[in-house]
Amino acid sequence: MTVSAPTSEPASVDHAIDACFLGPYGENDTLLERLVVEFLRDHVYWRRNFHPEDPPAISTAAARHPDYVAFEARMRRELHQLSATLKKSVPFHSPRYLGHMVSDLLLPGLLAQILTLPYNPNNVSGEAAPVTVDLEIEVGLQFARLFGFAHDPKQTGCAFGHLTAGGTGANFQALRLALALKAFPVALRAAGVPDIALPPDDWSAFNLSPQDGIELLVRWQTWLGAQTPADRQHWHERVKRERIEQRGLSDFFVQHPTLRAPCVLAPITAHYSWSKGLKLLGLGRDQLHLVATHGMRLDAGAFEQALQDCARERRPVLMAVAVLGSTEYGTVDPIDAVLGARSRVREAGLGFSVHVDAAWGGYLATLFRNPDGTRRAANDVAQDFREFPTPGVYRAFAAMAQTDSITVDPHKLGYLPYGAGAFVCRDHRAMSLLAEHAPYVFHGDEPPDYFARYRRLGQYILDGSKSGAAAAAVYVVHKTLPLDHSQFGRLPRATIQAAEAFHARAQRFAAELGGRVAALVPFAPDSNLVCLALNPGGNASIVRANAFVARLYERLHADPHRPVQTKEFFGSVTSLKPELLGATETQRIFPALGLVPDSDEGEGLTILRHTLMNPYLIDHTNGISYIDGYFDYLGRCIDEELALPGA
Ligand SMILES: Cc1ncc(COP(=O)(O)O)c(C=O)c1O
Repeated sequence: MTVSAPTSEPASVDHAIDACFLGPYGENDTLLERLVVEFLRDHVYWRRNFHPEDPPAISTAAARHPDYVAFEARMRRELHQLSATLKKSVPFHSPRYLGHMVSDLLLPGLLAQILTLPYNPNNVSGEAAPVTVDLEIEVGLQFARLFGFAHDPKQTGCAFGHLTAGGTGANFQALRLALALKAFPVALRAAGVPDIALPPDDWSAFNLSPQDGIELLVRWQTWLGAQTPADRQHWHERVKRERIEQRGLSDFFVQHPTLRAPCVLAPITAHYSWSKGLKLLGLGRDQLHLVATHGMRLDAGAFEQALQDCARERRPVLMAVAVLGSTEYGTVDPIDAVLGARSRVREAGLGFSVHVDAAWGGYLATLFRNPDGTRRAANDVAQDFREFPTPGVYRAFAAMAQTDSITVDPHKLGYLPYGAGAFVCRDHRAMSLLAEHAPYVFHGDEPPDYFARYRRLGQYILDGSKSGAAAAAVYVVHKTLPLDHSQFGRLPRATIQAAEAFHARAQRFAAELGGRVAALVPFAPDSNLVCLALNPGGNASIVRANAFVARLYERLHADPHRPVQTKEFFGSVTSLKPELLGATETQRIFPALGLVPDSDEGEGLTILRHTLMNPYLIDHTNGISYIDGYFDYLGRCIDEELALPGA
């Protein structure tokens, strides 16, 4: 197979990226191998020097014992078997992989993870992970700085962040925290706590702004601290009994009949983890209100209308979710407009959290950050790109600092191994509402010192035991490539340039196809995901268009029954549903493809989806553009499909 020379060059070539990854060909194998061996030896010396007076427990003759030999043989056989089977894995590292949100791994992260694994730290607490739990807290502060939150632990109201298994867990943590903060003032009222300026009724208590809720929490903590030990115990128990976490949802709402279960407002593009989260929280999926989008970006007008409806119906809102890099289209919601609508609806009595689901797009924020931590001007960001960032995208990134919490996934655009999502909240003081007590791990009261407090990490998060190696990996990546445009930003810069080149090539491709197949990029990319809708010329049926794209996709996805080498490129698919698109967008997209939207009773249109995060999509060393190669291949596949009888 040949891949063509690039016709679409990015603005600049960045060779610093070459040292970052093992590389599509394993080019940096010697570097990786040398460092793995070096740090493995280092670990062994550490074991030997722990108590050098302890003799080896495994005798030097043990390796000759038949049981040892048999075990080693079994282990080798299983490892060889595993290694052989793993060859069926999807080649995420390859620039021919344009499928899902995954690519090659950053060497500093991979090495830090490998280096740390034999120490096996458990980040549940500082006691089980004296080193890596601090690294996890530092990672939270690194993210806080990236997003514009206060990030000095000495500052009152400094942010806090921690790692999760992935974006799903981080989104759930956001829901849990928002609910704790929303319901706590109601518990204070129910307990009849004196002297702390409680809201006048349950509705206003349930509708404090997150900041007012945190300030009330601090007033309560200060007041409690001033009581005698006996009174402190009494009031602590009394408030605890009234908390939603103690009563459970149903009893809480029975006790407070003027309140109803709150809803979550999110765009229709929201990831399915939000539905999972609402189920898990016990609020139920019905409380997830999906708001219309325009071009797959939250429709600010529809959002404001939804808020007004909630205020009129006296339906509390737990949280508004804005997506920064939607899963299917990479589109960015108008976070600034969400915040503006929240301020306006405040007068109508609604108070709620604003969370940014930046599981995908969070690391793009590096493009907007100077090394000194200040925000870059829009013109400076734009100078490396053709279109990015649109004014709306720039405003959305700038507004992140005013939101209450953010999800970001190091295992996506952070190029880190799986098992690394992250949750960051703007003001850490709310976290004490999540604290769970377990005397065998966490001793004594909540320490006032920031690091001492969060070293008891397992108290505040959903997980108990968790990988310290994952935290070490994220930390080392952020130290090696600081989260600003001049360092880490090199990676998103390359991928957004690739996405712009891909978009331009897709438009030329559509023109080249002439009338044979109608092709369209349905949404101009905000980031580095680009979709392509295709329909054979003269066809008006969505079912037939879907069958055509399904046959193309057959060639573009991993099939465990066939060697991966038989695949030329990898892509993914998604579906455009008229009822979710809305009438205007449906009328813009479907007829342009020659399709009649309602011909098949609201059937979704299957489209190709491309995630452009591989840093080597344009290989300058060899003068190859895998983007052009992909379109050449797609063109050949289309020709073959059209040539089939009955096509
Ligand atoms: C926007 C968004 N949020 C949340 C998630 C869930 O992340 P994870 O799969 O790491 O749990 C994803 C995953 O694709 C996502 O794109």
